[in-house]
Amino acid sequence: MLTILITGCNRGIGLELCRQYHARGDQVIAVCRSGSDELNSIGVRIIEEVDVTDDRSVSRLAETLKNESIDILMNNAGILRSDSIDTVDFDDMLEQFQVNTIGPLRVTRTLSDNLKSGAKVGIVTSRVGSIDDNGSGNNYGYRCSKVAANMVGRNLHHDLSKQGIAVTLLHPGLVATDMTGGRGVSPEKSAHGLIARMDELDLESSGGFWHAEGYALSW
Ligand SMILES: NC(=O)c1ccc[n+]([C@@H]2O[C@H](COP(=O)([O-])OP(=O)(O)OC[C@H]3O[C@@H](n4cnc5c(N)ncnc54)[C@H](OP(=O)(O)O)[C@@H]3O)[C@@H](O)[C@H]2O)c1
Repeated sequence: MLTILITGCNRGIGLELCRQYHARGDQVIAVCRSGSDELNSIGVRIIEEVDVTDDRSVSRLAETLKNESIDILMNNAGILRSDSIDTVDFDDMLEQFQVNTIGPLRVTRTLSDNLKSGAKVGIVTSRVGSIDDNGSGNNYGYRCSKVAANMVGRNLHHDLSKQGIAVTLLHPGLVATDMTGGRGVSPEKSAHGLIARMDELDLESSGGFWHAEGYALSW
């Protein structure tokens, strides 16, 4: 039985990750700003009032988990503020950096004492953060926050793999959640793939960027 900590768990992909890890017998620590009926119904341990942009709330999380080991840390919380050259709002852009880029770094660094050799860290970024794959433009804030999140993940790989901790960057696919207005594959299918990728992850494959379906993505 592994201990899995997931951020952004009250809905969407995070909720489904909680459901599937719990169903296979792992111990889930579901972290969120505020819970939901769906999350409550799973029966996992829930830690609320954790905003990944806020040092104090993430430090409180570390204090709550003092001396507990985490086998898999899934940095899943994220936001999308759609924009174009005409509509991009720079405060929205910074907010996306706060959540999508700095959030995973803050959470991973603050929980580093909970991660021992053999632990794994996943960051749910996006193919939209691939420069090679950008064939359509738009979404300045989201794209930039996710390409920077990829760099955070690759840097974490350099720092943490020395301690026996593997790190990976994951694209969940286009998934039918609030973020996409319900367009895309089911959260069940996406979470199934993300869990398979985390199961496969080891120090040799650490530092890569993967589609949930199991193929490597270009940067
Ligand atoms: N859906 C897709 O097609 C898709 C594609 C590529 C990548 N992704 C990535 O996958 C991840 C999950 O997305 P999703 O589709 O499940 O989105 P979602 O349904 O909108 O859920 C987003 C989750 O992130 C949480 N969150 C947002 N801001 C937060 C903050 N400051 N602190 C803590 N939690 C925060 C939300 O909590 P609240 O309820 O409190 O807001 C919610 O639980 C994101 O990183 C997203 O960028 C999604």
